[in-house]
Amino acid sequence: MAIIKIKNEEKPLYMDLLLIADESVDMIEKYLYRGEMFALYEDDLKALCVITQEEAGVYEIKNIVTVPKYQRKGYGKALIAYITDYYKDKGSVLYVGTGDCPSTLNFYESCGFTRSHVVKNFFVDNYDHPMYENGIQLVDMVYLKRPL
Ligand SMILES: CC(C)(COP(=O)(O)OP(=O)(O)OC[C@H]1O[C@@H](n2cnc3c(N)ncnc32)[C@H](O)[C@@H]1OP(=O)(O)O)[C@@H](O)C(=O)NCCC(=O)NCCS
Repeated sequence: MAIIKIKNEEKPLYMDLLLIADESVDMIEKYLYRGEMFALYEDDLKALCVITQEEAGVYEIKNIVTVPKYQRKGYGKALIAYITDYYKDKGSVLYVGTGDCPSTLNFYESCGFTRSHVVKNFFVDNYDHPMYENGIQLVDMVYLKRPL
């Protein structure tokens, strides 16, 4: 398994995968180039994430996705373990914001995140179309955090 940092000029090559976790190219482009992108390869590409610095010592996962056919094999968790180690000397807390979706919340909680706060109506206010996950409309953004 190898985790590599992706250069800015190569980031658009991964757009199809990023769009699985965040349906809007406009929203992705707001964080893609100010963030750092990491890709986990084991033979081929398995998982990807984008991390931003929001303020001194505060980092945020803006996008994380495992290639669908490789989900539930531990790659997402391995990527988060790598990220928390990578940023541990640079910051003190790692946030992630997500829809109120039990499977995704379960994933983050299994990676050591606990619930932090909620941004009301985030998905309604920031996307030009309704978003659904497992048939449920996403409305509020749920933030979780874990120490670095
Ligand atoms: C969320 C996501 C990145 C998880 O990656 P993954 O590689 O499949 O996750 P892992 O295999 O490392 O899962 C680790 C643990 O998280 C939990 N988990 C992961 N996916 C889950 C699911 N769909 N339902 C319930 N629990 C889940 C489980 O406890 C799992 O351990 P287990 O398989 O031993 O039970 C992946 O499902 C994905 O790409 N989803 C689509 C994009 C997305 O929603 N991204 C997040 C947006 S904020």
